[in-house]
Amino acid sequence: MKFFIDTANLDQIAEAQALGVLDGVTTNPSLMAKEGITGKNNILKHYVDICQIVDGGDVSAEVISTTFDEMVKEGEELAELHDQIVVKVPMIRDGVKALKYFSDNGIRTNCTLVFSAGQALLAAKAGASYVSPFIGRLDDISTDGLHLIAEIREIYDNYDFGTEILAASIRHTMHVIECAKLGADVMTGPLSAIEGLLKHPLTDIGLEKFLADYKKGNS
Ligand code: G3P
Repeated sequence: MKFFIDTANLDQIAEAQALGVLDGVTTNPSLMAKEGITGKNNILKHYVDICQIVDGGDVSAEVISTTFDEMVKEGEELAELHDQIVVKVPMIRDGVKALKYFSDNGIRTNCTLVFSAGQALLAAKAGASYVSPFIGRLDDISTDGLHLIAEIREIYDNYDFGTEILAASIRHTMHVIECAKLGADVMTGPLSAIEGLLKHPLTDIGLEKFLADYKKGNS
C-alpha cells in the first residue's frame, strides 16, 4: 500500500518524508487556500516545492477548470511543471473526457470527488491512473465509505483495470487499516493518521522496562 499525505503544508510533507514511508502527496484547492497559497504563479511554484521534498513520489495537482478545453490546457501546464505531477480532475462529464485525453497523451491523472462505484468504473474506463473515493465525506453523511472501497476493488479486479484505488478523505488511523485490509492501493490522509499507526501502549511499557532493566545491569 502506498502512503500519500493529504496536505499542502511543506513542514508536514517534510516530516512525513523524514519518516521514510511517504510515497506521494495529494492537494486540492481547499488545502492550498488553507496554507495561504493564492495566485496562479504562487500555486504553480508551490507544486514544484512539494515535488522537491517528496523523493520521486507522485504529487496530485488539481485543475480548477470545468470545461474540457480549459481542463486540457490547465492539465498540460501542470504536467509540464515536474515529472512527479499527476493531474487531478473532477468526476464531471468534461472531466471524464479530459481523463481520456490525458490518458491517450501520456499524462497521469487522479480522478477526484468520487462517491460511487459507477463513477469509479467510468474513471477506470477513461484511463485514470488513480481514482479517489472520498471515504470520510461519505461517513459524514451516514454512508459507509469503506463499503465503497470494497465495491471498487471488486469491480477493478473483475476486469483487471490498471487504475489504482486511492482511498481519500481518510480521517484517522482505523481508516488506513481498514483500507489496507480491503486492498486499496493507496491511502491519502493527514500526518496524524500515519503517525497513529506506530502507537501502542504496550510498546511504550515494554520499552520502558527494557531500558530500566538495562540500566540496572549496567550501572
Ligand atoms: O483527498 C481528498 C481530501 O482532501 C478530502 O478530505 O477531509 O476534506 O474530506 P476531507
